[in-house]
Amino acid sequence: MPLLRSSKTVLGLDIGSHSVKAVHIARKGHTLIKLIEVGIAEIQKSSENPTNARISAIQTVLDSCNFTKGNVVTSVGGSSVVIKQVTFPTMSPKEIDSSLKWEAGQYIPLPGDEAEIKFQIRTADKVENRSEVLLVAVKKESLKDHLNLIRHFDFQPRIVDATPLALANAFLNSTANHEDKNIVLVEIGAGATVITIFRKGGFFLTRDISIGGDRFTGEVQAVYNLPYSEAEKAKKEKGFDLDLVKSVLDQLLLELRQSLLYYDTRTGNKGYHEIVVTGGGSRLTGLDSYLEDKFRIPVVDFNPFSAITGEDNSPENLQALAPQLGVAMGLALRG
Ligand SMILES: Nc1ncnc2c1ncn2[C@@H]1O[C@H](COP(=O)(O)OP(=O)(O)OP(=O)(O)O)[C@@H](O)[C@H]1O
Ligand SMILES: [Mg+2]
Repeated sequence: MPLLRSSKTVLGLDIGSHSVKAVHIARKGHTLIKLIEVGIAEIQKSSENPTNARISAIQTVLDSCNFTKGNVVTSVGGSSVVIKQVTFPTMSPKEIDSSLKWEAGQYIPLPGDEAEIKFQIRTADKVENRSEVLLVAVKKESLKDHLNLIRHFDFQPRIVDATPLALANAFLNSTANHEDKNIVLVEIGAGATVITIFRKGGFFLTRDISIGGDRFTGEVQAVYNLPYSEAEKAKKEKGFDLDLVKSVLDQLLLELRQSLLYYDTRTGNKGYHEIVVTGGGSRLTGLDSYLEDKFRIPVVDFNPFSAITGEDNSPENLQALAPQLGVAMGLALRG
């Protein structure tokens, strides 16, 4: 064990479909010692070259985070990632690895040679001869595209994570009490909503729903016949009438209900204590009370920085940006 270990800096970089977010931290060993800076930049939708628009947003974020060197952790998400908990007979990691080579298609809706598959044994019961294994599959093509995008900058990502796992990591490292509760974490982004179930004791599953903030904006555009930018602005105003986006909300609600039902059936563990919301799309006025009313359980906002708030060195805009920074914080903590 080293007697003295100098601190290192890590940048968690979350490249979303609407915006790029980053959290820059310093850590020593496993201890986070300082939150250096956070940054966010919207990706210009009107740009003729979407790749250039993303590159430019990433550069803005790197500059605003004062990031020049250190570890970078990024992620791939959306429909190119599949995360699944599967039951195997108890086997060694080597055996699981070779069985996945032949049988991956049984668990993952992607051909084995098109996907990069990693796994983690979560529980192994020798007596019952069953192991719960978490499978994470990423489309090779999407990973390649992601790395090609990153190649425009002079850093190599130390880790490329799966976006939903990064969010789960942020949640598990926050002060949110998940030990003795069943919690639904709902992250509403622009293109999608990721729901993650934390069962008592940390067991979790995750699912992607292709409804996010963009769909709310689309609905406002249609109802008022507004251009995108004005509809975005109207949607973000305080006092925005949720009824205007009722049809999208109802679809989201239906998907959420179906997901919870699915998890209940799979785990036999009924009921939820709390819904925790996050992601830019969750800032819609009145959304928390809408969900509280429908599910009849408390709905709270996720603060990925809860374990470190109160520090004198916290960036000024931290609280306002917190709903969008969960993934970036989870990535930074992995570095
Ligand atoms: N105050 C607000 N009220 C309502 N919606 C908001 C507010 N602020 C941001 N949003 C919405 O949040 C979304 C962007 O959130 P976020 O940055 O989490 O998305 P993203 O990570 O880029 O998307 P994805 O994860 O789906 O790729 C947009 O749809 C935006 O309109
Ligand atoms: Mg996102």
